[in-house]
Amino acid sequence: MSIDFYKLRVAEVKRETPDAVSVRFELPASLRDTFAFKAGQHLTFRRAFGGEEVRRNYSVCVAPSEGMLKIGVKKIAGGVFSGWVNDELKAGDELDVMAPHGSFCWDFTAGARRAYVAFAGGSGITPILSLMKAALATEPNSRFILFYGNRNSAGVMFLEEIAGLKDRYLDRLSVYHFLEDEEEEIELFNGRLDRAKIDELLIQLVKPAHVDAFFICGPGPMMDAAEDALLARGVDKGRILIERFTTGPLSAAQAAAARALEEKAAGLKMSVTLNGRRMNVTFDPAKHSILDNVRAAGLPAPFACKGGVCATCRAKVTAGEVSMKVNYGLSAQELADGYVLTCQATPVTEGVALTYDV
Ligand code: FES
Repeated sequence: MSIDFYKLRVAEVKRETPDAVSVRFELPASLRDTFAFKAGQHLTFRRAFGGEEVRRNYSVCVAPSEGMLKIGVKKIAGGVFSGWVNDELKAGDELDVMAPHGSFCWDFTAGARRAYVAFAGGSGITPILSLMKAALATEPNSRFILFYGNRNSAGVMFLEEIAGLKDRYLDRLSVYHFLEDEEEEIELFNGRLDRAKIDELLIQLVKPAHVDAFFICGPGPMMDAAEDALLARGVDKGRILIERFTTGPLSAAQAAAARALEEKAAGLKMSVTLNGRRMNVTFDPAKHSILDNVRAAGLPAPFACKGGVCATCRAKVTAGEVSMKVNYGLSAQELADGYVLTCQATPVTEGVALTYDV
């Protein structure tokens, strides 16, 4: 993954709801290849606020076949970046952006005849909209069911666009909205997408065994409920794709275990490769993670969330052993291939070697 930031000019900021916008970027021919993306991927942004660098990830909300680059940004209470994008960003402004990355993706193939189901909550619709449009456009024989939860109808992102897709793909796309604060006539569609509701949907509307892939993105409790409900029905983990943007804090026990591991790693030497440059770094527990130690040593290792979800800080361990506090960003295959999230990693042995050049 390229660790470079590129300047992209904003072509349009469109208000989607009272607290969410979509942002479309101009893509000069010289950057088309760099910013080619897969449906479901995200972009990392960087901007200084009050002298402090802030990085954020936002998912692409279009399919690659649409020939544009567009993200959705919902304003989060107290969110410095999302608030600025919603209130101040305008066409013509420039932003520092990394090339698209992320593994919330699926290989859509033209001849396939598949069934997909998505559970989206709030702004979690953003990558799912991208996947949904890619599935419907690429696979003319496939079907897609979207379950989309929101607090109220005013807060539903991309409402009109989704309605347009429903008209266009009448017999292949089904959309069910769930509004917490508004009563529907049909009881099944009232309330939030919690475990009980998802269990009901999996009995009444979906046969999990006939679904090729489930896409899940939204608030943590909704994602956990959907994943648990699917696992309880014997759905294979490989068919459940989850995209997390944030995580809760570590429990007291997890934090204590992480701290003990960091203390134990004090003074361990690591060899780190980035952009073809190799450097020896000595682990300092005061800096907590391999990522922060590497950056303090002068190598500009990439990162965004620092919470173990976005995988921007991914590197491959080629020698020695490291341990991660949490991992929401790497698949079982990536783990088996030796990848780690360096923002969550601590060396366990002397002589760890890792590379970001993969
Ligand atoms: S920076 Fe996001 S997982 Fe490490």
